[in-house]
Amino acid sequence: MTINDIQTHLQENSKELTNEFKRLFHGRGGLYDEWKHLTIDSIDDILSVALYFEMEPTLEAELIDMLIYFISKTRHKTIVLQRRYIKGTTSEVIAGELEENLHVVENGMKLKLNLLSNRNSGYFPDMKNGREFIRANAKDKSVLNLFSYTCAFSIAAKLGGAKSVSNIDMSKGALSTGRANHHLNDIDTKGVGFLPYNILKSFSRIKKKGPYDLIIIDPPTFQKGSFEATKDYRKLIMKLPQIAAENCTLLACLNSPDLDADFIIKLINELAPSFKFVKRLENVKEFASENEEKSLKNLVFQRKTSDKLF
Ligand SMILES: C[S@@+](CC[C@H](N)C(=O)[O-])C[C@H]1O[C@@H](n2cnc3c(N)ncnc32)[C@H](O)[C@@H]1O
Repeated sequence: MTINDIQTHLQENSKELTNEFKRLFHGRGGLYDEWKHLTIDSIDDILSVALYFEMEPTLEAELIDMLIYFISKTRHKTIVLQRRYIKGTTSEVIAGELEENLHVVENGMKLKLNLLSNRNSGYFPDMKNGREFIRANAKDKSVLNLFSYTCAFSIAAKLGGAKSVSNIDMSKGALSTGRANHHLNDIDTKGVGFLPYNILKSFSRIKKKGPYDLIIIDPPTFQKGSFEATKDYRKLIMKLPQIAAENCTLLACLNSPDLDADFIIKLINELAPSFKFVKRLENVKEFASENEEKSLKNLVFQRKTSDKLF
């Protein structure tokens, strides 16, 4: 794929851009072999470019020239470049200016965004379909959002009419962005908890606020000293029956390239058999990958047979 081909790809994907987030080029999915290191996103009037490894300098310059030309024909005023392969570096503003208080828009929902850090932007765009599922299934429910990070699922649940949400994450910083995200969307935080617990060590406190009608488990695959999916996911599933309401719906997420959907389905069958597997949510089409089992898995389970099977 040449730089010209990337330009054509971008033009085709940019026909109906709005202020909503849209991934325009997803090299990470492995579908464009020699471009695995490149992603390009449209964030309102910002074109956000991420490089996951260093490019040959003349090719990088050619790519940047093409992008500067590309935005002369689109709604974008700014180009931000993140060099993800350099730990701890700040992003470069290649064209235009970057405002300080940024947010991204997804289905009308606003979420604070940090484009200057090359990690921890505050927003995981590939989870859009998971948030749509939660919004559509939260009405009047008591929701538990485990590994809530900046509380995007909580916003989706409240916009979907949730009665209450308990957001649990050991990062106080993430939870304070989460609270700000509620304010940004004019959501009353009465009934919304922001609880800075280590999930693996706080089951009794989590249980006290239960039982929950809708539970989200969206952990990291591996966070040193905090969570390792291979050995810790089973500890969460083991406790589910104690914290879940009779008719509970569970969204269990897994983003490991090495663990497949069966890993979770088998754990549920073994440790929480009252939950039945309903379906795997489709991934966002702009994030298509050469191997779906290696990409994000969002698995829906339902406790007790319900008439309503989504
Ligand atoms: C992949 S992010 C979760 C994404 C989030 N669900 C979303 O919708 O944006 C992982 C989060 O898990 C949290 N975390 C990791 N281990 C934890 C633990 N043992 N207890 C509580 N939080 C933990 C991290 O602080 C981080 O915010």
